[in-house]
This record gives sequence, C-alpha cells and structure tokens, in this order.
Amino acid sequence: MAKYRIAWLPGDGIGVDVLDAAKIVLDHLSLDAEILPGDIGWEFWRTEGDPLPQRTIDLLHQVDAALFGAITSKPSDSAEAELIPELQGKHLVYRSPIVRMRQLFDLYICLRPCKSYAGNPLNYKENIDIVVFRENTEDLYSGVEFAPVSEEISKLLATYSPNFSPFQGLAGDQFAISCKINTRLASQRIVRAAFEFARNHQRQKVTVIHKANVVRASDGLFLQAAREVAKDYPEIQCEETNVDAICMWLLKNPHNYDVLVAPNLYGDIISDLCAQMVGGLGFGCSGNIGEKLAVFEPTHGSAPKYAGQYKVNPIATILSVKMMLDWLGEAEKAKRLEAAVAEVIAEGKVRTYDMGGSHSTLEMAQAIAEKL
Ligand code: IPM
Ligand code: MG
Repeated sequence: MAKYRIAWLPGDGIGVDVLDAAKIVLDHLSLDAEILPGDIGWEFWRTEGDPLPQRTIDLLHQVDAALFGAITSKPSDSAEAELIPELQGKHLVYRSPIVRMRQLFDLYICLRPCKSYAGNPLNYKENIDIVVFRENTEDLYSGVEFAPVSEEISKLLATYSPNFSPFQGLAGDQFAISCKINTRLASQRIVRAAFEFARNHQRQKVTVIHKANVVRASDGLFLQAAREVAKDYPEIQCEETNVDAICMWLLKNPHNYDVLVAPNLYGDIISDLCAQMVGGLGFGCSGNIGEKLAVFEPTHGSAPKYAGQYKVNPIATILSVKMMLDWLGEAEKAKRLEAAVAEVIAEGKVRTYDMGGSHSTLEMAQAIAEKL
C-alpha cells in the first residue's frame, strides 16, 4: 500500500491542464502516493445537479490530502438554463464546491504564501515574502442569506436597527441580506495558526486585518480574539490594520509585511492583491487546511477561454504541490521542488505567455521536473 492517498480533482477548464502539469513534477519526485481521481465541477452540476457529488465527499474522507484545479461558476440564472432537461425546474441551488469543501471538512485555514522569486519579470518588487492566513469557514461566506427577505425577518431587523430605516417598509424582494457571522472559536484558531506559523518560521510580525471601527460586532469579535491569542506570543509583534488602509500600505511598502491574518472575505481580497504583487494568477498558490484533511489549489479560476490549450502557467499549481508536500511531512521533497521552481524562473529560458514567453503548461512543468 502506498504511503499517502491523494484525491485528484482537476475540475473545469484549465484545472485539467494545470493538474496534468502537477502530475509531471509529482512523478519526478517519486512520491509514494496513490492518486485517486474525483468528480467535481460544472459538468456534474449540469448532469447531476451537484458540482460536488456525494461520491467525491466520500473519497475526501479517505485521503490524506487533495489537489484541486479549478471550477467554473456562473450566475444562477444561466446556471439553471444549462442543466440537463430532466433537472430543469427542480429548484436546485448552486453552491461553490470549494466553499462547501472548506466548510464540510472544517478546512479552517486558508494559507496563501506570496513570495517573489528572483528573475520573475512579473514581480512588482523584489524580495516580497508575505504569508496570508485567511479564515476559511465563516464570515460573509456563512451561506446564511435572505433574498427575498421574509416579513418576519424584516420586522425583526427594524427592532434591532431603529436608527437605520431605508429598508423598512420595503417589499421582501427589494432588498437582500447576507450574514457576516464570525465566531470566537474560528477567529481564535485562525489567529493562532498565524502566530504558530510566525513562531515556527522565525517571522517577526503578524498583522491583523479588520474593519472593526465600522463592522463593530463581527470584526470587533475577530479583533478581540486576535488580541487574546497574541498574548501567548510575546516575542512576535502584533499589529492591527483596517482592511482599506492595508490595501494602500501593501502597495506602498510591501516589505513592511510579514504574516497577515484576516476574516474570510478580507482574506480573499487581500490574497489576490498579494498574489498580483508576486506575479499574478500564475503564481498564487494556496492550501485549505484542517485537522485531518487539506485541499491544495492554485488561487486562479478555470479560465474557460484557455481550457485545453495547455497555455497557462502551472507554477501556481506546482507551488501548491510544494505546500501539499510540506503538509504531508515531506519537507525535503518540498524544498527541492521550490528550489527547482526558483531555478527555472531565475534562468528565464522557459516562460509561459503571462511571463512573456511562449512555452506551454507542460513544457514549464517538464523544465521544473528536470531540475529536481
Ligand atoms: C478563492 C476564490 C473562491 C473564494 C471562489 C472561487 C468561491 O476566489 O479561493 O479565493 O471566494 O473563496
Ligand atoms: Mg479569491
């Protein structure tokens, strides 16, 4: 029996291209792993009414880790139209399978390292090395939403918000509600994960991102939880910054930042900003990490217009494989893989279109594999 079991979830569009690239480097690393393909994505929504079928959930219960490519999501009106005729009119609700995986398996850490590799023509500045810890299960992703809003909830809101009345007296379909729900437990554990990382990797500072001056209840709780946890790490500087301000400061002085920790939606936004500073979509890698399972994925989407062309940059996915190796405890292989990526970037001989070259997805993977 192989040492590890890895669920293989290419999904839609270029998810397939980049996972083929990942396979090339994994094969060169001779990881003792059983690769178990799983169904996920638009095709299963269209034909089964569920982009994350139960058999894939069952598979995820049986593996050590998963590698996930990308998913195509469309607005609900066009989604309904694409269902096979037998499923149309059934009032199925499309929910993002990646968000579902995060919640179902309590993958509470979204870890997104953003590092500039020397020689990358897409670097915003050299020597950026920021690690984003994004809460991954709640906040505005709680999934508690109302549209239309029932009369009961509308009345309840009026009693809680007597000073704000624009929505009072509106019909239920004239406004919509998405609940931002933050719990103390989830806030504490993501902040603790960030501080533990800082301690174990000799990082100097953790920046807590919030908007507690306005979103007093939920971000207030997040900030309070962060302050409590920070006390256990006196050797690490803890800084608090509003989410709007940090967007400005990150661009101005990226070298002032080290480890960032944020509630779910701010973390989503900030991690795209940080990824762009180190090369953009082709370089944004990510891990969704829980106690028992972790799902690794490039941060980019499925880019349908490039699907099957083997054109896109696989480095985001290959760096996600590096993260998976670390999570599995294969630190030496992880280190070798990252060094190979850094070497190929520094040499500049093999470059995909985003880097100004014309090499294919698989040629890039092959070049990295040959350095291993
Ligand atoms: C990400 C993505 C997802 C998210 C989408 C695809 C649901 O933007 O992983 O950052 O919002 O979390
Ligand atoms: Mg995102």
